Amino acid sequence: MNRARTLAGAALLALLLSACAIAPDPGSSPSATPDVTPVPTTALPQATASATAGPAWSVETLSNNDPALPVHLQWPVVPGAPELTRVLGADLAARERAFLAEYEPNAEAPPELRGTWQTVLDAPAWVGVRIELYEFAGASGQVTTTVVYGQNMAGQALRSSDLVAPAAQRAAVDAIAAALRADGHEVLDDLVGAPGVEEQLLQDLVFGPRGELVVRVGEGVALPFSDGIVDVTLQPSVAEGLLSEQGRHVRDAAVDLTGPVSPSPEPPVAVPQPAASVDCAVAQCVALTFDDGPGRETARLLDDLAREGVPATFFVLGTSAKAQPALVRRMAAEGHEVGTHTLSHKQLTKLSAEGQRAEIARGIEAVEAVGVTPTVFRPPYGSYNDATRSVVGAPMVLWDVDTLDWKTRSADATVSAAVGGAKAGSIVLMHDIHAPTVDALPRVVAGLREKGFTLVTVSTLLGTREPGSVSSRR
Ligand code: NI
Repeated sequence: MNRARTLAGAALLALLLSACAIAPDPGSSPSATPDVTPVPTTALPQATASATAGPAWSVETLSNNDPALPVHLQWPVVPGAPELTRVLGADLAARERAFLAEYEPNAEAPPELRGTWQTVLDAPAWVGVRIELYEFAGASGQVTTTVVYGQNMAGQALRSSDLVAPAAQRAAVDAIAAALRADGHEVLDDLVGAPGVEEQLLQDLVFGPRGELVVRVGEGVALPFSDGIVDVTLQPSVAEGLLSEQGRHVRDAAVDLTGPVSPSPEPPVAVPQPAASVDCAVAQCVALTFDDGPGRETARLLDDLAREGVPATFFVLGTSAKAQPALVRRMAAEGHEVGTHTLSHKQLTKLSAEGQRAEIARGIEAVEAVGVTPTVFRPPYGSYNDATRSVVGAPMVLWDVDTLDWKTRSADATVSAAVGGAKAGSIVLMHDIHAPTVDALPRVVAGLREKGFTLVTVSTLLGTREPGSVSSRR
C-alpha cells in the first residue's frame, strides 16, 4: 500500500466525516429499543441485544451490482434515532459519489467499495453503530472504520470525536500513543504529530463495561502499516479526564448495561409444502429471485407475493438477516425459498478459498440462527471461480434475465425487462431493496402469467442440483 495514497484516502474520509456539528432533531420519535444482533467482533466489548421489544431496525442499502465497479454499502435504519440514520446515510452516499468519481469500471481488476455495519452500543438512551468501509483500488485494499452514536428520543447524533472534549483532543492523542507503546507497538512520531491526526485517531471510540475507552486505530494512522488495525484501551481513569459532557452520557449508558442478554432461540420454521406441486418439465416455469435483502421494502414485497399467490426465491445477506430476522422467518413461513448471498456482499473472486469459505459460511450461519435452513446460494455480482465451487457446499444459482433494476430504479423498465426477457425456464434477477422493484411486482406477475408462465421457486424450477453446480436457467 502506497502511503501517500492512503493518507490521501484517510484525509478524504476525515473530510467526509468531519462535519461534526450534527444538529439535534427535535421531531424524533420516542425511544425505541432495536431488535438487532450485533456482528461478533474479536477485540471489542460485545454490544448488548435488547431485551424489550420495540420497532425493529431495518437495513438501508446502496448497491450497484456492477461486477466491474462494485459498490455495496449498508447501514441501519434505527427507528428511535432518525438523526443517526440520516448521518450514516449521508456519509455513505458521499463516499459512494467520491468512489464513483475516482474510479473507472475495470473488468480485470475491479475497484470495489463495500460498507458493512455493526452495533457497538445498544442502550435505552444511546445506540452506537460502526461503519466498516473497505475500498479496493485495483491493486490493494484498505479498511477504515468509524463509529457514530445516536441518542434515542432527542435524536441527536455524535461522531466518536465528539465524545472527547475539544480542549482534550491533543491529550487524547498522547494518551492513545502511550497506551499503544505500553502494548508493545512502535508508534511513529511523525504520524501522531501530523496535523489532523486527532480526527483520524478519534473516529472509532467504543466504551467497555467498566467505562474504559477502546480506541480502534486505523491502518497506518499512528503505527506502521504492517501492524494493521489495532484496538487499544484507555483505562476508565484516563478516559474520564478526556471526555466531553456528551461523552460522559454515552459512557454512562454503556456502563449501565448489565451485560449481554441471550436472545431466546427461535423455533425452526416449518416450510409448508406447496399446495400442488408443479412439474416444470410440463409447465412453462419461471423463477423470480430477489437479492440483497431483507430491507425496508421486503415486507411490502411479501404482502404482494402473498396476495398474488406467487412463491419467490430470496438470496439474503447475513448482515441483513441478523438485523431483520422476522422477515427471513416470514419468507420461509410463507412458502418462499431462502438462499444465501454471503455475509456482507464481498466480491468472492478477490478472496482466498479460505476467505470465500468463511464469508459464505457466515452468511449461512446468520440465516440458520434465525431458524431457517437455506437451500441455494448466489454469489454477489454473479462472480465466482473454481475455489467458490469447491467451498460453497450448495447449488449456485445465477440468472438469465437481468432486469437491471438496481440501475434503472424504474418500475416500468423492470416490468419490461422481466416480462420481455423471460422464456420458459428463466431465472429473473431483481433486488428487494429497491422501492421501484417492489412497485413493479404486480405487473411483472400479471405480465408473466399472461404469457402462460407458472411462477415457482428456483428449486422447483431446477430440481435437485449438486453442491458447487452452477445454473443460470433451467
Ligand atoms: Ni447482490
